[in-house]
Amino acid sequence: MTSTPQPLTLALSKGRIFEETLPLLEAAGVEVKDDPETSRKLILDTSRPDLRIIIVRATDVPTYVQYGAADFGIAGRDVLYEHADTHSRGLYQPVDLNIARCRLCVAVRENFDYHAAVRQGSRLRIATKYVRAAREHFAQKGVHVDIIKLYGSMELAPLVGLADAIVDLVSTGNTLKANNLVAVEDVAHISSRLIVNQAALKTRGAELRPLLNTFAQASGA
Ligand code: ATP
Ligand code: PRP
Repeated sequence: MTSTPQPLTLALSKGRIFEETLPLLEAAGVEVKDDPETSRKLILDTSRPDLRIIIVRATDVPTYVQYGAADFGIAGRDVLYEHADTHSRGLYQPVDLNIARCRLCVAVRENFDYHAAVRQGSRLRIATKYVRAAREHFAQKGVHVDIIKLYGSMELAPLVGLADAIVDLVSTGNTLKANNLVAVEDVAHISSRLIVNQAALKTRGAELRPLLNTFAQASGA
């Protein structure tokens, strides 16, 4: 008796990564059967019976792929950098898809003279979700910092005295502007990468590689 093979599993987060992956799926001739914005389903069927999509938090995508619960996924460089701090074995990152592009920046209140504070050697309090990236950025600059880990709404921290500065993602700049903050330094340019479970690439390479190649080509990588 032969058992039906498990479909290939692609891990995506809903929102911008899902939306920006749709054209890549389309290039591979794949249509997604459900809309994660309206459906409560976490496993989405596609027009290909051998491919399904799981919807997870952006920060959890590398974990699902690393443990092989998903064969491949798409995650931001910001998320991958923080994930690699604790565990990155088993993850292959072949392609920068150039989607979900933004910058990781240091930002402060409009009336806070960040460069003067740095020149004076002040110790700064930094609120961020990106602890590893922030710690390494300030260590490289020789700036002493205390890092406060937050999980969202970082822009609030300098406004209510929780921190002198934040390290957060900036795209249009609208969120900073709406909160009277300004970006004063770039930490990194961010885009999203394909990530692949290394064991899956060995055992299911014949099915995976054509999809990975189509994604890479469609993204211009
Ligand atoms: P979670 O919901 O788990 O807290 P999140 O809110 O960071 O994660 P998204 O906002 O969907 O999740 O962001 C997913 C990825 O998209 C981020 O990891 C980052 O690489 C990128 N990204 C985040 N904000 C922007 C933005 N404003 N413009 C472009 N890309 C962005
Ligand atoms: C991200 C980021 C900033 C905002 C920047 O938040 O954390 O707050 O985008 O984008 P902008 O420069 O174009 O305003 P997101 O929209 O993902 O909200 P969330 O982190 O609360 O999910």
